Amino acid sequence: MKILGISGSARPESRSGSIKVVQKVLENTGCEYELISLRGKKINGCIACMACVEDNVCKVNDDMKTLRDKIVEADAYVLSGVNYYNTLNALMHSFMERWYQFRHREADILWGKLAVTVSLGGFNPAPPAALLNTMALTNLIKVVDTVEGTGAFGCHYCGYGETCKAGGYYNKYGPDTPITLETTPDVTKDEAVMLAAEQAGKKLGEQLRSAEYSREKTTQELMQAMLTLEGYE
Ligand SMILES: Cc1cc2nc3c(=O)[nH]c(=O)nc-3n(C[C@H](O)[C@H](O)[C@H](O)COP(=O)(O)O)c2cc1C
Repeated sequence: MKILGISGSARPESRSGSIKVVQKVLENTGCEYELISLRGKKINGCIACMACVEDNVCKVNDDMKTLRDKIVEADAYVLSGVNYYNTLNALMHSFMERWYQFRHREADILWGKLAVTVSLGGFNPAPPAALLNTMALTNLIKVVDTVEGTGAFGCHYCGYGETCKAGGYYNKYGPDTPITLETTPDVTKDEAVMLAAEQAGKKLGEQLRSAEYSREKTTQELMQAMLTLEGYE
């Protein structure tokens, strides 16, 4: 069993909170895993050319090409995104749009596989989580757990955070709250989030190894859920 972790944060890995949550989920699965960061990768959104319809292979020539085999070979995924402008950040959105290549005709490349989703926001992690869960479902991937947390936002390290009247930090805490190490959120120190990540990893590993789990059965469940989601029923 191999799990592919994808960190969708655009931040340097050392500063990203979400990549550390993904790592925590992965190391608790008890499975072999690989963690890939999308940071710095050139991944265009889907251009709806439909060239993938015949063979379920995207023809757009960018960094997604090097990731395709890893996605196909993985038995499960840990997918992370972060909140930009109250939605899923563009890098992860583009990456997920390109999973369109896997879902044509009789393709069962992803059907019935499992996932954990991870989402971080400076204030609100819910919107990216909701989108990732919908994107997984429309690819007939079952999300067994979702981990949400809050992390540092740009104001904490841009150098102007305490005084910038356009920034979230100033607006939330006012002019008299200095930015220090203590006032800078660090999701790895949030015990509830890290515990949730640990539990999500264990759950993913257990479900993958369970004798009850079959991709065929899971696919049937998800097809029903997708019909409801898309309003066909
Ligand atoms: C362009 C941009 C827009 C953002 N917009 C929001 C927002 O609307 N709501 C929010 O809660 N956080 C917002 N944030 C903050 C990030 O979601 C936050 O910094 C998060 O911790 C990033 O996770 P990471 O450290 O893994 O990259 C924004 C950050 C950037 C860079």
